Amino acid sequence: MEIPIKKLVSNVGQTESLVGAVVLVATIYLLHSLLFRGHDMSHIPLAGEALGSRSKRLAEYSSRTGKSKAMFREEYSKNKSVWRVQTLDGDHVQIPPQFLDDIKGRKDDEVNNLAALDVLVQKKYTQLDSTSDMMNHLVKSDLTTSLNRINPLLGIAAEEAVASEMPACEDWTAINVNDVLVRIIAIVSGYIFIGPELCRDEEYISLSTGYTTDAFTCVFILAAIPPWMRHAAKWVIPHYYRIGSYQRRVRKFLGPVIRERRAAMLKPDYQAPDDLLQWTMNKAHKWSEIRSDDDISQMQLRLSLAAIHTTSTTSTALLYDLVTIPGLIEALRAEIEDVMANYDGVLSNKALYDMKLLDSVMKESQRMNPLGLTGFPRMTMDKGITLPDGTYVPPHTYMEAPIEAIHRDPKIYENADTFDPYRFYNMRKKDEDSGKHQFVTLGTGVLSFGIGRHACPGRFFAANEIKLIMINLIRNFDIEQKEKGPRYANLSSTIVNSADPSRELLFKRVRT
Ligand SMILES: *[C@@H]1O[C@H](CO)[C@@H](O)[C@H](O)[C@H]1NC(C)=O
Ligand SMILES: *[C@@H]1O[C@H](CO)[C@@H](O)[C@H](O)[C@H]1NC(C)=O
Repeated sequence: MEIPIKKLVSNVGQTESLVGAVVLVATIYLLHSLLFRGHDMSHIPLAGEALGSRSKRLAEYSSRTGKSKAMFREEYSKNKSVWRVQTLDGDHVQIPPQFLDDIKGRKDDEVNNLAALDVLVQKKYTQLDSTSDMMNHLVKSDLTTSLNRINPLLGIAAEEAVASEMPACEDWTAINVNDVLVRIIAIVSGYIFIGPELCRDEEYISLSTGYTTDAFTCVFILAAIPPWMRHAAKWVIPHYYRIGSYQRRVRKFLGPVIRERRAAMLKPDYQAPDDLLQWTMNKAHKWSEIRSDDDISQMQLRLSLAAIHTTSTTSTALLYDLVTIPGLIEALRAEIEDVMANYDGVLSNKALYDMKLLDSVMKESQRMNPLGLTGFPRMTMDKGITLPDGTYVPPHTYMEAPIEAIHRDPKIYENADTFDPYRFYNMRKKDEDSGKHQFVTLGTGVLSFGIGRHACPGRFFAANEIKLIMINLIRNFDIEQKEKGPRYANLSSTIVNSADPSRELLFKRVRT
């Protein structure tokens, strides 16, 4: 399209009239809305087409009674090429399993993961950084590779955190597990992120858990209102203000620690701490994203954002599953005691590897109850892409995989709707390649961590952390659901599908 701006500008110059200016502004507005209307996607089938209107589809998508889940499953079962779901943020294109390999192999300038995460955290309005190249590097190259070394420490951290955060439970005691798990996970993660002393500081726990809660709440509220209102609306959201206050507080909390460590590093016999804060300081000069001590402090908040609530919600869902399957807690406890006896009570990486029922149950729980209905977020870049079947996906399109529906696909899993604690245990036994079918193994069957080179780099750490916490809970407590009956329902709306954090389980101590 020809843009007649020059002509318009010269017209205004000639007449110098108010009318000219108004025409100019109106024309620019019109062009803007034409150019940024979004690209034509009418060739891609639309979920809920039969509902008849965009507003009805949006209502279905955001209903609080989980209608979106039915919509995703129904559309997925038609076994089509890509299809799209209408959201307030435009149409989100759903990638079926047969195209995941193609998409994960594409370069970052064709389909981009970080750009999609920016959309997911509403960065345009919140300025939140969910992840960064350096953070991914630290988690992959420093954290994951040191798991052998730090695992026994992590075991001690988990034992101490469970001991200090769980009530006595001499008799059956009702506990909001999510609240307790959030704190335990903040402390255990903090042990490796900033060290054994600081991780128990209430200011650190408040920063790492509170930042995540407020940031995600703010994102959730913004995502529920039309985009054109968001820039204005955020100013009345208290959670939005708090994001900034955490950023100031973490600077105050960690600034002196970083300066002290740097001064100590000048001494020849100084033994630097073995934690992520130190690894960040050591490598800071190599990364342009770190320009100051403040950037090093903010990295810790970003880590919390990625690590705390994902892990605690996964663990809460896991406990909700465990308590509804008779005999499972006892079977897990027997496996834990067996393996621990083989390793003289040391919870090494290898000991955890041998707890195969625990690993299988964790993977089955993630298959049955992924945190979200979708995963594998990707954004097409300036050119758009053509899929193997010839379907064109235009530039700047948000794509994702309908993972919850894939996890329940009967073509992939036998009895897909049944929770089978031994499902992956048996697969691992049968398969020569014993590395397959683990909680951390990537594949098109369970997609919670994504696949390809952008798959969640923190999954190895999270897997060990969840195992160590579960080991300490299962060894020490009998656990039951408080309200008898079926498993606690998940919270389900839009793409959210998470364990309900408000429910309670009953705990009774079995070991003193
Ligand atoms: C589903 O679609 C894919 C690709 O279009 C095709 O290869 C496969 O055979 C189909 N499966 C069924 C059961 O229709
Ligand atoms: C959510 O919770 C219910 C329990 O009401 C469970 O049966 C269901 O499989 C869960 N998962 C999903 C993805 O809906």
